[in-house]
Amino acid sequence: MRKFSVVIAGGGSTFTPGIVMMLLDNSERFPLKSLRLYDNDAERQATLGAALEILLKEQAPEVEFIYTTDPEIAFTDTDFCMAHIRVGKYAMREQDEKIPLKYGVIGQETCGPGGLAYGMRSITGMLEIIDYMEQYAPNAWMLNYSNPAAIVAEACRVLRPDSKVLNICDMPVGTLRRMSQIVGKQPKDLDVRYFGLNHFGWWTSVKDKEGHEYINQIRDYVAEHGYLTQVEVDTQHMDESWQATHKKAKDILAVDDRYLPNTYLKYYLFPDDEVAHSSCTYTRANEVMDGREKTVFDAARRIVETGTAVDSGFHIDSHASFIVDLARAIAFNTHERMVMIVENNGAIANFPDDAMVEVPCIVGSDGPEALAQGKIPMFHQALMHQQVTVEKLAVEAYVEGSYQKLWQALTMSKTIPSAKVAKELLDDLIEANKDFWPELK
Ligand code: NAD
Ligand code: G6P
Ligand code: MN
Repeated sequence: MRKFSVVIAGGGSTFTPGIVMMLLDNSERFPLKSLRLYDNDAERQATLGAALEILLKEQAPEVEFIYTTDPEIAFTDTDFCMAHIRVGKYAMREQDEKIPLKYGVIGQETCGPGGLAYGMRSITGMLEIIDYMEQYAPNAWMLNYSNPAAIVAEACRVLRPDSKVLNICDMPVGTLRRMSQIVGKQPKDLDVRYFGLNHFGWWTSVKDKEGHEYINQIRDYVAEHGYLTQVEVDTQHMDESWQATHKKAKDILAVDDRYLPNTYLKYYLFPDDEVAHSSCTYTRANEVMDGREKTVFDAARRIVETGTAVDSGFHIDSHASFIVDLARAIAFNTHERMVMIVENNGAIANFPDDAMVEVPCIVGSDGPEALAQGKIPMFHQALMHQQVTVEKLAVEAYVEGSYQKLWQALTMSKTIPSAKVAKELLDDLIEANKDFWPELK
């Protein structure tokens, strides 16, 4: 079988060891010739890189492995770039979450003002790595899950329309795993219909290969328990705050029980509950820094100290295997059905063509082809319209350097009560992001 060269951009990410372990676990389906880690933070890269070098020598010595901060070395002749960068790192995620809370507004990584602030930072980093890929590996594809994926995808549509960048999210995959537990099936046995924006969507059908529909059975379960299941289904999304999120799906469902909601809708439909349960001094960023980041980097240091990765504490990120499914779909034209973020172009019949939406697609060597989801109800359409306008205004603000448009984006967000609060927030966010955002006038 053909072997592939992969570069992981954001090689110093907390998710890198899990993805590398997952790639090794899938080496029969997707053989690796070389694996490269690329990050622009030399210290983070060196810590994880040195540990993974030891792990690869032990587990897959045939794979050429390097880690580097030099984009030419990283990207040259690669087939795929798997990208998960975080521009501003955890220090800025903390600001994204804490600044809005000062105004009684939700502080979240990808939703509301925090998501907008992160989006304005991410676009620059994404353009940089897309341009490196096109310069050093013109035939490569980027499988991007750097957040906020909705804004990043819109920025790619506007600023790099011909680039081979596919934007993806693991939340539909993660939640489908929970649904599969609820109905006693494997996720791969289930096909879904789904419509929405990234972190803003609904399942309209969950069927097995024989065509049996499970949506009512799952709805009855979610109405009582949310997506909380008895069995551990994830390597991710297991912390207590995530369990509360899975549970909250119950309340989101009550607002409209035709379809099964994405958990992220809680930030738009129940922002008051969310703020009430948040601490202004200890947010999810702190939880991750004290949890996943510490665990992963401590494990890496231990591997380097002991010189072996046996019992290393690195775990396979099993649900991330959808990234391999996607790479295989492109490499082997598998025509796998996957939920992806694509330009609408009629997939949702009563929604603008130029909106970046999240829908099931058939993925082959030419990329994704969206499956038609038909017309959506007024309630969902209006919510999506408001949110997609926020995302489009943010990208326009970035492109034009427009203060006014970013103010409008914040004002439009369902998470912010008024134009006044939006302006105060914007001025705070500009100050906090002065090393990262383009200048706004
Ligand atoms: P992290 O801060 O641990 O890792 C991100 C890494 O990116 C850091 O090492 C940082 O130095 C590096 N980086 C930043 N800017 C860069 C640039 N311009 N070029 C190269 N490297 C750069 O963050 P994390 O918690 O591991 O998350 C990584 C990313 O993956 C985030 O964007 C997160 O939101 C995203 N993510 C997305 C999904 C999804 O569903 N799409 C799921 C999980 C994580
Ligand atoms: C889900 C979302 C991602 C998000 C992640 C945050 O997987 O789909 O887009 O980045 O959750 O998880 P964390 O553990 O970092 O809060
Ligand atoms: Mn996501």
